[in-house]
Amino acid sequence: MKKNILITGGAGFIGSHVVRLFVNNYPNYHIVNLDALTYAGNMENLSDIEKATNYTFVKGDITDEVFINRLFEQFQFDGVIHLAAESHVDRSITDPLAFAKTNILGTMVLLNAFKNLWKDNWDGKRFYHISTDEVYGTLGETGLFTETTPYDPNSPYSASKASSDHFVRAYGETYGLPYVISNCSNNYGPNQFPEKLIPLFINNIIEQKPLPVYGDGKYTRDWLYVVDHAVAVDLIFHRGKNHETYNIGGFNEWQNIDLIHLLCQQMDEKLGRPKGTSKQLITYIKDRPGHDLRYAIDASKINKELSWKPSVTFEQGLSKTIDWYLNNSEWLQHITLGTYQEYYKKQYK
Ligand code: NAD
Ligand code: DAU
Repeated sequence: MKKNILITGGAGFIGSHVVRLFVNNYPNYHIVNLDALTYAGNMENLSDIEKATNYTFVKGDITDEVFINRLFEQFQFDGVIHLAAESHVDRSITDPLAFAKTNILGTMVLLNAFKNLWKDNWDGKRFYHISTDEVYGTLGETGLFTETTPYDPNSPYSASKASSDHFVRAYGETYGLPYVISNCSNNYGPNQFPEKLIPLFINNIIEQKPLPVYGDGKYTRDWLYVVDHAVAVDLIFHRGKNHETYNIGGFNEWQNIDLIHLLCQQMDEKLGRPKGTSKQLITYIKDRPGHDLRYAIDASKINKELSWKPSVTFEQGLSKTIDWYLNNSEWLQHITLGTYQEYYKKQYK
């Protein structure tokens, strides 16, 4: 069936993988990628599909109500997959208001535009909000986040995402807006901006710069290869139940320091450096304020209801990721010039 689908934040890391999958798999859909091209948005992420006939890129800000309402009028979007956000916890600690604006207000502007367009007939319409496991706060040594874990966000980033999730639900309850939400664990893979742990450390190992480990390095995350997240998004968008939440995770917990050791080992092998070279770059630094100890997802709902599971092991996914960064040195050079250097100096002074 012909449909107009809006994907927000499609020039970013996860968004670009979702856009590519939808453009390639659904020739009947017209995919509109709306992105403000902040520091995290990069047109190079989608150079392979930019000329596809079922694809349009629009530069714009989700917080600009007049512009967004016009865009919805123009394209009459049947579906929205909303990924645009400020996404880095450390930046949310230095500039929390930017997170409230984009993540909360921006989501509300989109919800409102969708409501105004379809409130008299929601048939076949869907608003899919992409969220994070960080809304659940932190786990202790044991346990898993399920879809019913109470929200308990600790950083300005996770608080803004939690708030946006609540607004999505509220629009569902109040106006009958048909929505789905997914809360995913840490993604890694090609095209991730080198402010996040894995690409930052890959870049620093290439450049033989210190590897800044926060605190004692014993924090735990549940890592998922980004293409597997995009596949889950496709399944949830098409087959998820209205007004439901799905947790997405890699069944793949790693303490930061163990992950870093594996990364160092794979990088030494791929760069032909003597075993143990990269490990020597590890430098323990001051901890992140409010640092969540552990995230781990119970992904049994999406596994049972939609038969989704990750397609690669962490060792395979990490190896593919490193290969991508080594083969795309121009991509990395372009984004690590200019403002990245200023950010890096401030963050890791
Ligand atoms: P990212 O920072 O790589 O990309 C965000 C994109 O949104 C960028 O292209 C940016 O230009 C765009 N954007 C930012 N502000 C905008 C605005 N005001 N208007 C329009 N576009 C704007 O982020 P990501 O890591 O790809 O995350 C995408 C989504 O997935 C976010 O909603 C994030 O909360 C969520 N998420 C991320 C992870 C992860 O591990 N990265 C895990 C779970 C959920
Ligand atoms: O869990 C999902 C979330 O994962 C997403 O919602 C966020 O958008 C995404 O940024 C990510 O958040 P984290 O804070 O977990 O990711 P980050 O890569 O920033 O950090 C991962 C772990 O590594 C965390 O324990 C902090 C630590 N770390 C990170 C950086 C950047 C370091 O020790 N040193 C660093 O320099």
